Amino acid sequence: MDKIAVTGGTPLHGTIPISGSKNACLPLMTAALLTDQSFTLTNVPNLADMGTMSALLRSLGAEVTHDTDAQRMDLRVRRLSSPLAHYDIVRKMRASILVLGPMLARDGAGTVSLPGGCAIGARPVDLHLKGLEAMGATLDLRDGYVHATVPRSVNGGRLRGVSYRFPFVSVGATENLLMAATLAKGTTRLVNAAREPEIVDLANCLIGMGARIEGAGTSTIEIEGVEALSGTEHAVIADRIELGSFMIAPAITGGDVTLQGGALSLVSTLAEALDAAGMSVEDTPQGLRVRRRNGAIKPVSLTTEPFPGYATDLQAQMMALMTLADGTSTITEQIFENRFMHVPELTRMGAKIDIVGSTATVTGVDALRGAPVMATDLRASISLLLAGLAAEGETIVSRVYHLDRGYERVEEKLRACGAQIERITGDDHE
Ligand code: EPZ
Repeated sequence: MDKIAVTGGTPLHGTIPISGSKNACLPLMTAALLTDQSFTLTNVPNLADMGTMSALLRSLGAEVTHDTDAQRMDLRVRRLSSPLAHYDIVRKMRASILVLGPMLARDGAGTVSLPGGCAIGARPVDLHLKGLEAMGATLDLRDGYVHATVPRSVNGGRLRGVSYRFPFVSVGATENLLMAATLAKGTTRLVNAAREPEIVDLANCLIGMGARIEGAGTSTIEIEGVEALSGTEHAVIADRIELGSFMIAPAITGGDVTLQGGALSLVSTLAEALDAAGMSVEDTPQGLRVRRRNGAIKPVSLTTEPFPGYATDLQAQMMALMTLADGTSTITEQIFENRFMHVPELTRMGAKIDIVGSTATVTGVDALRGAPVMATDLRASISLLLAGLAAEGETIVSRVYHLDRGYERVEEKLRACGAQIERITGDDHE
């Protein structure tokens, strides 16, 4: 397994290009299942998860070609040759569940392995399943798979429009039901829907295919089902989590970096937090420019919430910055039950962090010390790298396959801004 070695202490200066959004691209890829026409995505990031989703879609009968140099992906699902999303693929990536809604909408049948938990929590899919049942699907859960069908007694095997209120906000469940509703018979209202920019991007793509959708980005989305959807060409939005992660880099090293392709509207809550922490964040024609205003890092407390609140995917990164603040901050994680696994690793680097329940109290220290640390999940791994950029000495982050799921060419992007960072290619069995 690869490792990344970083020697801290160099303020970063330069420009970092922001790639297309992983969390927009994954549901967008599953939208290809909704049509038998050709479907193209541009600004596609070159990440491990894109490969996993491509393999899953191919196993269902899709033709998928991903030109990584051109950042372009062409998909075509002439017909679903297999309605089975196998455990071997699903266990690697939770977003695999997003093929279920489109399969039911397209063919009235689909079988998907239950995803199983992951490092940051149990992450069940009960909201996805309850919503699809409300739309007329019959679900049979056995041997770790959900076998879903739309009985012929329901509109001749076609999902029905429904008014469905989510008991709490779920990004994935909103995406699954949004896609299913585009081909359902009648109108669907999704209440207490997720409002993330990735939902808006998916809705815009579906509208480009002929779907009738109102209210994406608000907590109530109305979809009027249509008979069929056409193909489309759609550009994936910029990755606001990659953007936010790299905004922390000049903040923690004391440098001055411009994030190309970044827009304040994608990260306004983080920008407010960084402003309170003593950073200058400004929209420029070249992108988002981030630097320290006058040297100090001020403590900032935050609680993660669904969009437009503070993003849970940016919690670990802000915590890394707060370990060097001149004061104490509290960080409360409300979305996932176990998303503090970066804490023991940051502590090994000299951070002072106490956890009580879902709240971490971070007492700023004068300096972090480089150490060998282990990545446990995608966003924990980038927070360790950010800490390593500021720590005295060398930090070696192991198990960076977590990092490669969500950050394209991370060491190249940081090295281009002066970071002393390199990838150590390891053997797979290590
Ligand atoms: C999406 O995951 C993102 N992944 C996550 O990013 C992100 O952290 C999360 O939304 C919250 O913003 C993708 O978009 C591919 P949820 P998702 O459904 O859809 C619980 C990253 O780092 N829940 O909004 O799985 C769930 O366990 C990843 O890029 C249920 O209980 O998140 C969690 O505690 C990590 N039942 C909470 O709701 C359900 O049926 C929010 O989950 C669904 C979710």
